[in-house]
Parts: sequence; C-alpha cells; structure tokens
Amino acid sequence: MPSQLYDFVVVANRLPVDKVGTTDDGEPLYETSPGGLVTALAPVMRSQHGAWVGWAGAPDEAGDAFDSDGMHLVPVELSAQEIEDYYEGMANGTLWPLFHDVIAAPEYHRHWWDAYAKVNRRFAEAAAAQAAEGATVWVQDYQLLLVPMMLREQRPDLRIGFFNHIPFPGYEIFSQLPWRKRVVEGVLGADLVGFQRRSDATNFLRACRRAAGATTRGSHVHVGHGEGRRTVHAAPFPISIDARGFEALASDPAVIERAAQVRTELGDPDAILLGVDRLDYTKGIRHRLSTFKELLEDGALGDKRVVLVQVASPSRERVKAYADLRDEVELIVGRLNGDHGTVGWQPVHYLHQSFPRDEMAALYLAADAMLVTALRDGMNLVAKEYVAARHDDDGVLVLSEFAGAADELHQAVLVNPHDIDGTKGAIVEALGMPKAERRRRMRALRRRVREHDVERWARDFLGALQDGAHAHDEEPAGQA
Ligand code: F6P
Repeated sequence: MPSQLYDFVVVANRLPVDKVGTTDDGEPLYETSPGGLVTALAPVMRSQHGAWVGWAGAPDEAGDAFDSDGMHLVPVELSAQEIEDYYEGMANGTLWPLFHDVIAAPEYHRHWWDAYAKVNRRFAEAAAAQAAEGATVWVQDYQLLLVPMMLREQRPDLRIGFFNHIPFPGYEIFSQLPWRKRVVEGVLGADLVGFQRRSDATNFLRACRRAAGATTRGSHVHVGHGEGRRTVHAAPFPISIDARGFEALASDPAVIERAAQVRTELGDPDAILLGVDRLDYTKGIRHRLSTFKELLEDGALGDKRVVLVQVASPSRERVKAYADLRDEVELIVGRLNGDHGTVGWQPVHYLHQSFPRDEMAALYLAADAMLVTALRDGMNLVAKEYVAARHDDDGVLVLSEFAGAADELHQAVLVNPHDIDGTKGAIVEALGMPKAERRRRMRALRRRVREHDVERWARDFLGALQDGAHAHDEEPAGQA
C-alpha cells in the first residue's frame, strides 16, 4: 500500500517521461516528455494531488514510484513477452488497424487477448492502489479499454473517465473483434467516455447496443440492473495542443532565423511542402508521395521548383506492418529522387528521425503548405501545431477529411487522400492561393486552435466528469 493516496489519477499506457540515462547508483534517470497530454494534465496533477500510472517504455523496468516535475509517477512493469503480446500484438496488431478502418489487416490471436486482459488488470490494480476514497481516475486510450470496468469492480467509490484518442469504427468493422462484447463492457465501467469526433461517439453508442445489448438514450447508455443500474455518458471532446506555448516557441527569433536557414539549405525552392508524421500506415504517406510524383510528372506545378520535406518519425518498428511500410516508403522516395533529382537538387527530403520541438516549429514556419493527408486519424495534432506556429498568418493547411481535426479546421483545404486527382488539385490550389486568402484562412484557423487548446480540453472533460457528465449535446442516437 503506498504511503500516500491521490485524488486524481491518470492511467495511460506510457508514463509522461523518457529515460535519459542512469544515475551513478544505476537508477533510471527520467525527463518529462514534451507531449500534449502531459502539458494539459501536469497543472491538474500538481494542483489536485495527482498520480500518473503507466509503463516506462522498456522491458522489465518498473522500480518504485518516483516524483518528477511535481508529478507522482507510478511505473507498471511489462515483460518482453508482454510487450510483444499486449503492446505490439493486441494493441498495435489488432486494435490499432481495426479502429482505423482496417487500412492494414488486423490479426486476431487469443494469446494476445489474454496478455491484453492480464496487463489491463495490472494497470487497474496499480491505479486502485493509488486512488484516495472518491478520487477521479482518468484512463487513456485503446491500450487500456478494459481498465474502466476492472477498476470499478475493485473501487466503486471512484469517478472514472475514459478518453479514446483514436477513431472508434463503425459497427460493421468493430464487430469483427472476437472480444467485442468484453471491450464494450470494459469501457462502460467509466462514468464518462470521451471521443475525438461526434461520429466516433455515435459509433460507440451503436456498439453498446449491438455488442452488449445495452439501451441508449441520446448520448447516454444505461447499464446494469436494480441497485447496480448506472448511466454512462459518451460524447465528443476534441483534443488539442498547447497552442500558446507553440506560438511562443515559433515566435522565438532563433526559430524564425532557423526557418529562413531551412529554406536556404533546401536550395531556396519556390515552394516547400511539408509532411510530418509518425511512420504509420494510417498517415497516408504512400498516397502523398504518389500524389507528389504525379504532380512532378504531369507538369501541374508549372516551372515552380517545389520540394517535399517528409519527416517520418520512427514508430513501433518491431511490428511487421510498420517495418514493411518503411521499406515501401523508402523505395518510393529513392525512385522519386532518382527519377526527378539532378546533381545538387532532390525533390523529396525524407527524414526518418524525430526532431525537437524548436526544429519542428522552424519547419512549420518554412513550409508554404502543410500536407496532413491521413487515411484515418483520431485527431492529428500536427495540423494544429502548424496552425499555432503560423504567427505570420501565412501558409496553407491541406487536411484530410478523415482526420478528426477536419471537424474543427474548416478553413483548411480539405481533401480525400484516396482521390489522387483531387489531392493534386488541392496542392496546386494551396500553392497558388493569393496572400489575402491565405491570411484570412490562417487567422480563422489560429483563432480556433487558440480558443480550443489542450488545457480547455482537459477542463471540459474533467468538468463534465465531475458534473455527472452532462456536457455538449443531447442528440438522440436511437435505440437498438
Ligand atoms: O495516437 C495514439 C497514440 O497511442 C498516442 O497516445 C501516442 O503518443 C502515439 O499513438 C504513439 O504511440 P506509441 O505509444 O505506440 O509509440
């Protein structure tokens, strides 16, 4: 039993820290990672006496809970086998492709599911051990779909929220999952279930009716019987970024200077297109490269010298679909540069690396158009970062209608990334857009992102969770 209990507990697959080395005594040394979730939740954690339960990111590494940056961090240990079956397997080989509309084929393995359930129980137990009587516990994402109910069974006194960061698929797809009923029942352990888009919440409500036989009314799900009868609220709470922080970073003279330097280093092209993604098949990188290749080949760009900078940060490299994707992308980039480059000039600058935030801000400032052409994406925070960085009110965002951000960023040039001709047209439009129009659109986009930042997201969700969850809308979702 920990010596102290916490009124606010976040449960996420990962702790909000990166291991940066070891102390002289061999103890791991951590640094807070710069993600949006931690930026939003750190102030709440500090003011409300919070603890964060998560995996430290390496096998067999747990150790004692520790304090970092005013937060109490509680590592959950995963063995190498559990990482393979729970994280790479069930989470990223089954649920990730299934929830992203089967862009890659999900695999269904019973031993992955068993590991997933076992690890979810470990997270639930760790959270239950930290939570004070009546505490608020906020469970994050598809890796932990069973945690809300496991937690409720142990601790009915808790107020439990769950937020799904990725899309929730239509029932025709979700129903493939052999464990669909248990997944829905797991999530329904929460009092409030948050999604990125209204359509995700609607899909979930349908899954509640079809897979678990629950009754829904509007955005509420009725579960249990008699004394155990409860109501769960499912609603959209679109996540965002630390907009002010990002704008401040992009306004730093050193970053502005670096943006100019980037343009020079790229050979002072007429236009820079930018893609920034984890190297993931959901991001549409192959489609984007095909689109760019056609633009180069059919002369649609006129005599403009246009480069595409594609940052593809390494991700989930031990999962086969990701390793295959890397091979394919690198083959396409190599061919494209081979066919269209000259000595001292290459059309695609491909960077299989992660960069610090200030370098990213400089790239955003340098880019004439940002290509966020995901085939499916829960939100896509890169789109919001680009907008927040453009304090010069310039630049054009080309945005996939299949990214959650499309529900909010209406002044972007919206595209269907499967439609190569349509996307080519959108890029040509972006590069030819008059300055006044670029400015009008970017100002409106910036206002939206500034007013709906990640701090507001956390406040809205936690406020709704405290109020007994009566946020947003009451649109009827229909009965079974
Ligand atoms: O978008 C979902 C998500 O799991 C994020 O929470 C996370 O930052 C990102 O994907 C990277 O995933 P992973 O933790 O598997 O590296």
